[in-house]
Amino acid sequence: MNTNQSQQSPSGDPITGWWTEAVIYQIYPRSFADSNGDGIGDLPGITSRLDHLAELGVDAVWLSPFYPSPQADAGYDVADYRDVDPLFGGLPDADKLIGEAHARGLRVIVDLVPNHTSSAHRWFTAALAAPAGSPERARYIFRDGRGPDGEQPPNDWQSVFGGPAWTRVVEPDGRPGQWYLHLFDTGQPDLNWDNPEIRAEFLDVLRFWLDRGVDGFRVDVAHGLIKQADLADWQEPQEILSGNEGDRPRPPMWDQDGVHEIYRDWRRVLDGYPGERVLVAEAWVEPAERLARYVRPDEMHQAFNFEYLLASWTAPAQYAVITRSLEATDAVGAPTTWVLSNHDVVRHASRLGLPVGTPRPNGIGIGDPQPDGVLGLRRARAATLLMLALPGSAYLYQGEELGLPEHTTMPDEARQDPTWARSGHTQRGRDGCRVPIPWEADAPSYGFGPTDASWLPQPATWAEYALDRQRDVPGSTYEMYRTALRLRHEHGLGHGTLRWRESGDTVLTFDNGVLTVLTNFGESPVPLPSGAQVLHSSAPLTGDGAVGTDVTVWYRG
Ligand code: GLC
Ligand code: CA
Repeated sequence: MNTNQSQQSPSGDPITGWWTEAVIYQIYPRSFADSNGDGIGDLPGITSRLDHLAELGVDAVWLSPFYPSPQADAGYDVADYRDVDPLFGGLPDADKLIGEAHARGLRVIVDLVPNHTSSAHRWFTAALAAPAGSPERARYIFRDGRGPDGEQPPNDWQSVFGGPAWTRVVEPDGRPGQWYLHLFDTGQPDLNWDNPEIRAEFLDVLRFWLDRGVDGFRVDVAHGLIKQADLADWQEPQEILSGNEGDRPRPPMWDQDGVHEIYRDWRRVLDGYPGERVLVAEAWVEPAERLARYVRPDEMHQAFNFEYLLASWTAPAQYAVITRSLEATDAVGAPTTWVLSNHDVVRHASRLGLPVGTPRPNGIGIGDPQPDGVLGLRRARAATLLMLALPGSAYLYQGEELGLPEHTTMPDEARQDPTWARSGHTQRGRDGCRVPIPWEADAPSYGFGPTDASWLPQPATWAEYALDRQRDVPGSTYEMYRTALRLRHEHGLGHGTLRWRESGDTVLTFDNGVLTVLTNFGESPVPLPSGAQVLHSSAPLTGDGAVGTDVTVWYRG
């Protein structure tokens, strides 16, 4: 079967642009590089390490939020959309970072968090000081409670982080009063996107950053902005950022049709700027056809492909998700995207070391079944080479180029993700993938910063993953990534076409341009055709030149 990657819109025009085939590297600012030794990564730290990203060969960076914030959810609780938190630096540091990145040919995408503000945002403070029914409250979702004294929440929605999605406020007169909706932490009140003032404000925030030169926005919780008007009860448990899955009814808080009008307005703003500025949807929406609606020609440019991230490590599951993803985006003329790790999920070097078919863990801690680290890294490397050979755009998460595992034995006292407390200590949450990354094996905090300080503890075993232990070391994970990115670029894999050759129970083989890609998921080694010229592989071939278990090979001929 042939699956053509879309290089054509439904109208037949070719879709072009850097983003259609870009490799985009996610920087989690708190954990990338700390310039001043306070244990928290910052913008000058990022700027000082940009050469690493240029050397690695990525096309763009996406920065998780660095805006002023009480950090109730690591910066995804924004108190001011037009500034930089002093923890991370100031606006001049942002300008410098953007300029230095551009000077190295790297584009810069920033995070936009439109579903909710921080409870420290001036709008929310004003809402608390104003009476029920006021214009100040109409910027958020305030409702009277149920029950005779309004002591029950307005509906039964649960927060993604656990516990009720409503918090009752104390009215200015000191009496218990209305409730406000927060799909995430109590410190993250949901905005009311039916209010034109909110729409106008965010158009202006887009312009603020576009004027400073950013190349695009990653849009946080893009499927959540509009709620079903009646705020109807939803008996189902709230899974972390789970959208509408398969044939279940669509939840009243996710993927409502009204969100698309918002993104059409935003697209018009971006299209008014020179250069190719892009919108990327973080929308946990299934199935792929439903997700594809976010990337119709007049909406966003890309959407994260979480169905791919969640797919099991088996040949049939990978075949199915790749095929479905390409078909769904082809139908709307958008490029497909691929992603294996980010700051919300267990790193793939650990996730793939859990038994195949394990449901997605929301963190792993002491006392939980531990992943097999050797197996996990072997599979992660094979998965990465498979991913980087696919047509479309790929996202990398900082540290995966080092083969970094999840920190799975972090002391629970060190945890900072609100998920851990809000779930009543049943969900470990996301700290394990957010640990500051190692640069130099023998330096304090492995070179993360000038001191030993690190906002989350770094495992004692991380020296071996440090960049300086891997640079120029043949076969290291870092060099594997670097070679893959170089070959991907040289052979135009990002704008190529995928043609399946073989999709059996244990082996997948496809062509992309002159390259053939083979992944062996099975137990027996798979011989290569005679005369095959191996260009790259995720692990050495067997003694007689065959492809071993959990290995991906790129070859010609
Ligand atoms: C997104 C972010 C996640 C954050 C949530 C609430 O899913 O990726 O880190 O907690 O939105 O803003
Ligand atoms: Ca710092």
